[in-house]
Amino acid sequence: MNVNEIREKSRSVIGPYCKSCPVCNGKACSNKIPGPGSKGTGTVAIKNYEAWQKIEVKMDTLAENKEIDTTFEMFGKTFKYPIFAGPVGAVSQHYSDLYNDNMFNEIYVRACAKSGIAAFTGDGLNEEIMMHATHAIKENSGIGVPTIKPWDKDTCFKKLDLANESNAFAIAMDIDAAGLPFLQGRIPPAGRKSVEELKEIIDYAHVPFIVKGIMSVEGAQKAVDAGAKAIVVSNHGGRVLDGTPATACVLEEIADQFKGQVKIIVDGGIRSGLDVFKALALGADAVIIARPFVNMIYGGKDEGVEAYVQQLGQELENTMMMTGVSSLREISKKNIYK
Ligand SMILES: Cc1cc2nc3c(=O)[nH]c(=O)nc-3n(C[C@H](O)[C@H](O)[C@H](O)COP(=O)(O)O)c2cc1C
Repeated sequence: MNVNEIREKSRSVIGPYCKSCPVCNGKACSNKIPGPGSKGTGTVAIKNYEAWQKIEVKMDTLAENKEIDTTFEMFGKTFKYPIFAGPVGAVSQHYSDLYNDNMFNEIYVRACAKSGIAAFTGDGLNEEIMMHATHAIKENSGIGVPTIKPWDKDTCFKKLDLANESNAFAIAMDIDAAGLPFLQGRIPPAGRKSVEELKEIIDYAHVPFIVKGIMSVEGAQKAVDAGAKAIVVSNHGGRVLDGTPATACVLEEIADQFKGQVKIIVDGGIRSGLDVFKALALGADAVIIARPFVNMIYGGKDEGVEAYVQQLGQELENTMMMTGVSSLREISKKNIYK
């Protein structure tokens, strides 16, 4: 099955909120939470997607016809592409009960590792989710990133123990989850963290720490001060705060300031290898893609993930070939019109 067939197939089993659209552009699910939509007006995910479409690439085939190298290195690991599969938690609530988080993460981690990339795993109120996710990561030689929510201190440290034991090559926290409607007023409590609190968490991790949910130079500086080795420029796909700009619109400023100091990852509406190229041209080292992977798992399990990663890789390779670059390092602002 190809990606389109898998997406079609997912439509009948993915539940009432996601419409498995030919292009995952945030329109049909708009503000559906529960569901994969955005908070409030439901416009931020749409903005994320559209901002990438406004950027155009510069064709240049007057270049040495070298082999295209898409390999990406981070924290001592080499990946086939500069692409990660993003954390998606509470799948039975936001999609359908064909899967629970444990079944979903097991496929996600395994299929991504097999495809030459790595999956971030989501977290939730049920403590079993992190236990299973970290187990799946351990089973796959540490190729996965457990992503912990900004819980109270005791809960964070319990989850960090699991993450440390999993041999994960990195650990993340979606620091912006403070804004998730379904975490508010619940046990364990989750919320904002001061730089000092975040530093304590990062110091406890045995491996490089990724802070997800940065939307400004000031925010990036705080993450760096706390000891982050990578940041994810992300507005959580519009799910935590209405009225934020598209990630593509803040990426360049953040990357200009922090490139080389920390790894810069970006997410939000990235759907194709062409979009991946544009993100790298604006200064990202790598990208995260989340929602489309859910369609792939509901429609085709491991095969779905593998088909989508392969398609993204081919699109990225083709864009590199046609813009005159041969390795990721060569991709720069010179390759796009802004
Ligand atoms: C249903 C759903 C659940 C999510 N759960 C998590 C989560 O547990 N942790 C997290 O860091 N991000 C979570 N995200 C955010 C995604 O990882 C990602 O940041 C966001 O969806 C933007 O990327 P996309 O446009 O490619 O989907 C979730 C997103 C969706 C739609």
